[in-house]
Amino acid sequence: MSRSVLFVCLGNICRSPLAEAALRQECTGSRLNVIIDSAGTGDWHVGQPPDERAQAVATRNGLDIGHFRARQVTASDFHDFDHVIALDGQNLRDLTAMRPARAAARLSLLFDHVAGRSGEDVADPFYGADEDFDQTWTEVTEAAKAIRQWLEAG
Ligand code: 4NP
Repeated sequence: MSRSVLFVCLGNICRSPLAEAALRQECTGSRLNVIIDSAGTGDWHVGQPPDERAQAVATRNGLDIGHFRARQVTASDFHDFDHVIALDGQNLRDLTAMRPARAAARLSLLFDHVAGRSGEDVADPFYGADEDFDQTWTEVTEAAKAIRQWLEAG
């Protein structure tokens, strides 16, 4: 079973790289063959590695994301990926506005995959502290578990 998932936040240096890492970890050893990537709606950080605080929370949880590089989402992503998953409502609105009419990708909000949390945002930790990145990690790992189960069911 082959699937592809693109996580999208604003800068692609905090939340979506962590969501990418969490789903990669979640799918390790699963029967799913999933292509997983992330991107930002903005272009400010294109080519940069994840925020040091995002790298640190990944390291605290046993993962190295230092080789990730930020990129901006493109119209072709809506053709190349089965699922485009927005980290917050503004990301979802921006993606909806740029989605090509005949693109196959299904667009959703990350927390719509988590029972009882539909419609919620993954808060932007960029202007926050280390604890905010721990919170982000908790949220994206909870969602990654639900997304893996959803992909396996589909
Ligand atoms: P992210 O966080 O969208 O989770 O990667 C941000 C990163 C950078 C900025 C905002 C949010 N920024 O304004 O540069």
